[in-house]
Order: sequence, then structure tokens, then C-alpha cells
Amino acid sequence: MKKNDKPNHVSRFYFHNMNAELTKRMAAGSLPTPSTDDPIVRPPEALFTFAAFGDPQVSNYMFAREACFYATCRDFKSMPEPLDALIIAGDIAENGMRCEYRMVAQILNEVSDKIRHVVLMPGNHDIRLRGFLAQQFKFRGFVKSVTNGVPPERGKYWFACDFDACRFLVMGSDTASFEGAHISHRQLKWLETELADAEKQNKPVFVMNHQPLKKTNGLPGAWQGVGSWRGSVGNQSKALRGVLSSHKNVFFLTGHLHQGVCQASFEDYGSYKCLNLPTVGANNHGSYNELSQGYVISVFRDRVEMRARLFGKGEYVPEEIPNAFISVPLDK
Ligand SMILES: [Fe+2]
Repeated sequence: MKKNDKPNHVSRFYFHNMNAELTKRMAAGSLPTPSTDDPIVRPPEALFTFAAFGDPQVSNYMFAREACFYATCRDFKSMPEPLDALIIAGDIAENGMRCEYRMVAQILNEVSDKIRHVVLMPGNHDIRLRGFLAQQFKFRGFVKSVTNGVPPERGKYWFACDFDACRFLVMGSDTASFEGAHISHRQLKWLETELADAEKQNKPVFVMNHQPLKKTNGLPGAWQGVGSWRGSVGNQSKALRGVLSSHKNVFFLTGHLHQGVCQASFEDYGSYKCLNLPTVGANNHGSYNELSQGYVISVFRDRVEMRARLFGKGEYVPEEIPNAFISVPLDK
């Protein structure tokens, strides 16, 4: 550990408070406890099964966030066998602080025997308050502190994880940004190359970015902001859409909107599909606004299935909720 990567006294003070609050809630029995009656189970014919959710936004002062995230992760404890992967689609820490990442790592490491690969990407909250390289260095250190975490290389957030059944392409901003992301030409070119290669191998690809494309998944209304770009990836949305749309079996997973499972959660654009993941830390918007929502996703030989789950309660979202269950045939 480099000298400037050591937690300072301020970080230690905040972490102590966060940990004390979690312990206090546990002792008082006020932490939500997921039921163990219907645990996450890998479907027997599935080639690959993973959980995906967004925006824990664990915070050094909003302690309900860490309680929700803790409850979410406890759901993995009752699984009879480990998941192939967990994806957290950005905004992992509210303020991008070391104490917040330390708490996230501690919670994740308590269930490390249940997750084979932990895939973590930055959101605008992770990158917005500090210089790009210093924060990327900190984020990389955080991912390395997570058991089974897949750290990005030094200096950039984007990377590929290749599996026998599918490929993950993790994206991330190439500059600091308060709300959107800047996707460089170099990153777009890399994405194009990786998608073309996966297509040759007939593999479905899960491309992950914190912010959705413009005018997808309920935007711009879902963000309730002024301007058509608000809530989206921003200026590179059109270029990114062009890359995604030129390959088949592409699933674009995003977070950022804090939108409960609804009609807008999933959109099928033919070659690529957009799935927006709810938050497991903050409040979800919309008519189905339960806490700690996300999806369990399984890849089969001929299809991908996505089932919405209330991780904090240890149960699946009722099937009458739109997009509680999605099955997409793969284009062979
Ligand atoms: Fe965000």
C-alpha cells in the first residue's frame, strides 16, 4: 500500500461511525433480514448466472444506505451454490470516499464464498469530486480489496471479462464528470473490437455502463431534469448507440435512474437490449418503489432470462409487475 493510499484519521473516524451504526442496527434488530425460503438458485440448464443491481451509494452520513446494501448482500448467504458473478452498475459510494469503499468491501467480503467474480464499475458519484487519476487509483485499490473483485487496469476504468458462456464489457468515464460520463474514442474503438470478436464466437455480451443512452429506459422523464441529455451517458450517447446497434445479442445494463422495476426497465431495440437496474441503497422511484431491487440473470444456450428480485427481502418481484420476468431468445 502506498503512503497516500493509507486511510487517514478522518477516513478512520467516518468508517468507525459507519461500522458502529451498522452494529447498532444489528443489535437492535432493525436491519432488514432477507427470507431464506426462496433463495437464489442457479437454474440447472443455465450456463452462467449472475446478480446485477445499481447504486448502493453507501454514504458516510446517510446510514440507511449501508443498511439496505447489507440486507441486499445477506440474500446471497442462503444460496446453495455460488453465483458466477455479481455486477454493481456504479454509484457504489455516495461521495467516492475511502471510508465508504471500505464499508462496501467489508459487506461484500462477508459473502465472498457465494460470488465467484465481483464486477464493480464507477458511476458519477464515484468520480465526480476529485481528480480523475487519483480517484481511479483509489477505486482500483478498493476493487482489489474485495475478494474475487476484478480490478480495472491503472489509469482507466474499462475492461473485458471473458467467460465460456458470455462476455462482460465494463465501461467507465474517461474523465471526471459530475453527472454524465465521457466515453473516449479509444474506449468506443475497444468496445467495437470486443463486440465484433464476441459475435464471431457467438457469445452474448453484457455491456455495462452507469448511465443509460439518451431517450431510453424512460429518459428524459425518468430523470425529471431539464435538457434531453440529463440522466443519460451524455454527449457520446449517439456514438455509443451506433456501436451497440451494429452487433447482435448485446445487453446494455445500466443504473443511475433509481427507478423501480417497471415498463421502462427493459427495452428491446433488436440487436441490442437495454436493461436499467434499480438501486439497492437509495429509494427507488415509481409505483413499485420497494427498496433493494435488482435482477438475477441467467444465460442459456438459446436465451437469456432476467428475473427481478427484492434482495433485501429474499424474494422475487411478483410476476404482475411489468418486466419482473424477461426472457430473450438469442439470435443464432
Ligand atoms: Fe448516478
